[in-house]
Amino acid sequence: MGDQKMMHELINGLNGHLLGIKELTRKSLEAKTFAYCPYSKFRVGAALLTHDGTVFTGCNVENACFNLGICAERVAISKAVSEGYRDFKAIAIASDMCENFISPCGGCRQFMREFGSNWDVYLSKPDGSYVEMTVEELLPASFGPEDLKMKKVNIRNEF
Ligand code: THU
Repeated sequence: MGDQKMMHELINGLNGHLLGIKELTRKSLEAKTFAYCPYSKFRVGAALLTHDGTVFTGCNVENACFNLGICAERVAISKAVSEGYRDFKAIAIASDMCENFISPCGGCRQFMREFGSNWDVYLSKPDGSYVEMTVEELLPASFGPEDLKMKKVNIRNEF
């Protein structure tokens, strides 16, 4: 980490988050140990930071009926939403890939976007290093809940 970033982290508690990114990443690495992935053998963990500092973790949960498997990010987000949290500051994601930062799948990007585009996603490696992106950067020109409220043509006027 560069000196400037480190200073920013110390002063603002990491982009103003109550919990540091390192700590959030550590929690995602810990969550990865619970991954249930007998088919892919690809472990993923996620740690989601909410507006009040509460953290919800998740891991991927696969199924013998392959298409029913669920990603770590969606588990964490669903846990949070089901407990009344919808305002998210950041999510850290971890996998076992040592040469690549884990990048969320398209479905998870859309799932994150449901709760806003302006929050942070930390893509990590097992050594704790990470890349910071926003949901907007991961899913530009997205479709979201606001679009459903946009003015529409009257379908009865269509051919
Ligand atoms: N997986 C996640 O949990 N999150 C991601 O961002 C990428 C993929 C899971 C789904 C599946 O259980 C395994 O990784 C291999 O695709």
